[in-house]
Amino acid sequence: MEKKRILSGMRPTGPLHLGNLLGALDNWKSLQDEYDCFFFIADWHALTTDYEQTGNIAQNIREMAMDWLSVGLDPERSTLFVQSHIKEHAELFLLLSMITPVPWLERNPTYKDQIVQLDNKDLSTFGFLGYPVLQAADIIMYKAHGVPVGVDQVPHVELTREIVRRFNFIYGEVFPEPQSLLAPTPKILGADRRKMSKSYGNAIYLSDTPEMIGKRVSEMVTDPARMRKKDPGDPDICNVYTFHGLYTDKAKVEGIAAACRSAEIGCVECKKLMAANLAEALGPIREKRAYFESQPGLVGEVIAQGDEKARAVARKTLEEVRQVVKVD
Ligand code: TRP
Ligand code: SF4
Repeated sequence: MEKKRILSGMRPTGPLHLGNLLGALDNWKSLQDEYDCFFFIADWHALTTDYEQTGNIAQNIREMAMDWLSVGLDPERSTLFVQSHIKEHAELFLLLSMITPVPWLERNPTYKDQIVQLDNKDLSTFGFLGYPVLQAADIIMYKAHGVPVGVDQVPHVELTREIVRRFNFIYGEVFPEPQSLLAPTPKILGADRRKMSKSYGNAIYLSDTPEMIGKRVSEMVTDPARMRKKDPGDPDICNVYTFHGLYTDKAKVEGIAAACRSAEIGCVECKKLMAANLAEALGPIREKRAYFESQPGLVGEVIAQGDEKARAVARKTLEEVRQVVKVD
């Protein structure tokens, strides 16, 4: 039986952190068994907000590809490619933009949200408004059935479905309607208890050494009410304890909670235990990353192979599209 196809993308914003791993990559990795996976680096999408700072994009693409391979995205099973290497995305984006009503884009919750959040940037651009149309082109280019994304991206997949319906209605049935694939993901907070994010400077990176992990964990906010070691703590509201739940031996986790409640263990020691377990869990990723760093040509080769596979599909889709739109 043919595997169903899924597709997802990430903007190349720099090295990946634990939030990216637990929120997306671990899920992508496990989907590789069941699905025909297309994963790509959405570098054109990075331009929608960072059009004035494009100097880091090439390096960020490299870092991201290296992180993907290090966590176990497998080029033998998945097609890994870069959006801007497949020019067909731009052509399909253009054709879809012809049929997409502007009000559909203006009412997009992510758009309205980002305009407010990123008020240090001028986002009153055509490209930023059209962000979801480019995303729709990314998805339907490969006729993907499923799109593994976080909740913040669900409106974009919804809009893709609406664009697909309109396209199919006007030109004939070409594209399937994609579904969002939401995976349950543990909620990971940064050192300051805000959402872990590169822009908050509160993240632990996949490429961090054990020493850096130790330092970042030592700075983590714990139970804010626990001022001294002799004060009993509440592990249930402590971010360090959430991490214990993910990285410490199940048999030991309850003991830590009890020792925290009875003030037998202090936060300094508790953090050291957790940091050691976290560093160990990330060990294999770090080792694979070191390997890819030592083989400068390899990442480029892997991407070139993925590009080739993606391009073959994209060309076929565009032939079909030009034919039904009658612009071939
Ligand atoms: N918008 C997505 C994000 O910011 C990235 C993305 C671009 C994407 N194209 C996509 C995700 C296609 C899924 C499918 O995370
Ligand atoms: Fe958190 Fe551990 Fe301190 Fe308890 S002892 S508050 S679980 S860091």
